[in-house]
Amino acid sequence: MAGGIGSRFWPSSRQAKPKQFIDILGTGQSLMQMTWDRARRFSEPQQILVLTNARYQDLVAEHLPGLDSANILTEPSRNNTAPCIAYAAFKLYQKDPNAIMIILPSDHLILKEEAYYQKIQIAVDFVAHNQSLLTLGIQPTRPDTGYGYIQFEPETGKHSDSGVLKVQSFKEKPDLATAESYLESGQYLWNAGIFIWKAKDVIEGFKQYQPDLYALFAKGMADYNTDRESAFIDAHYKNAPKISIDYALMEKANNVYTVPADIGWSDLGTWASLWDVKQKDDQQNVLISDKNILLTQSSGCIISKDSEKLAVIDSLEDYIVIDHKDVLLIYPKSKEQEIKHIIAQLEQQG
Ligand code: GDD
Ligand code: MG
Repeated sequence: MAGGIGSRFWPSSRQAKPKQFIDILGTGQSLMQMTWDRARRFSEPQQILVLTNARYQDLVAEHLPGLDSANILTEPSRNNTAPCIAYAAFKLYQKDPNAIMIILPSDHLILKEEAYYQKIQIAVDFVAHNQSLLTLGIQPTRPDTGYGYIQFEPETGKHSDSGVLKVQSFKEKPDLATAESYLESGQYLWNAGIFIWKAKDVIEGFKQYQPDLYALFAKGMADYNTDRESAFIDAHYKNAPKISIDYALMEKANNVYTVPADIGWSDLGTWASLWDVKQKDDQQNVLISDKNILLTQSSGCIISKDSEKLAVIDSLEDYIVIDHKDVLLIYPKSKEQEIKHIIAQLEQQG
């Protein structure tokens, strides 16, 4: 899935060039290219489909030269993740209802890759034999309101060596007080947003819980994998409900399972999550580029600057300072979830 904007990473992430296409870690590879490399460990190029908004088609092709252009599925409108997953599921189902889908966000960081491949294998084996919707679960470390929270049934783990747990409930992006209570209870994992299931099982879920979405994509069954597919998508995709898979299905279904996965995962969804994984100075500041910055008596800040002018910063605590050519952002880390609203506000103002 490579169609999001990464709006909490503004101003580095823009509509014209979202987060997945940026070398955000400074490794020489975009997050999207790193995701491709990992996917290649368990899939051949012809098995990998990239779903993205039509405006990013060329960017995807540029970042993934090993991907056949027929495997870039373009969406004519932004409808969030449930419709994009439904599109892929129906297309696969038309060829093989038992096809196993491994759904990967294109903009995550995975530090422990071998552990990640092992967990994916456990998940694939489980869904092959059980009608289930499975997601990787991450041990939470803070009451982050930007994630989905999975309440697991600890007892179920005792009966299987594989470590697959039944999910009791799923709550997408709770408010802070709720997230704090979840963290305290010790019964919740974060949803990594990496889903594994059979095409027919997710379609069954849509049929039960999102009948409109199901009906819309089912109408195209005779068109998928033919030269009529893109005409069908162009005509109908925009009418699909705009909803994420988490609200659409994961909160509602009762056959959800999770594999707890200690894989060095980060969504890198926000500036603070980048701060988390980067090397810090003695005062816990992260300087993405340190040219011409005079920083004193400051702590817990993340600072990125690509202009030449000197920045003098004193006595600043827990702030995000991003100095780009056309935007200067100075924002408290504690309010970073609100950065995405700036884009909406700016769009409104034209
Ligand atoms: N093709 C396509 N089309 N991709 C999309 C679209 C779309 O309309 N919208 C988002 N994506 C992609 C994003 O680029 C990203 O790779 C992935 O789908 C997830 O979307 P986000 O917008 O980043 O979701 P989130 O981070 O707020 O929440 C999800 O991920 C969290 C973990 O990172 C949820 O699944 C949460 O429950 C989860 O905790
Ligand atoms: Mg995300």
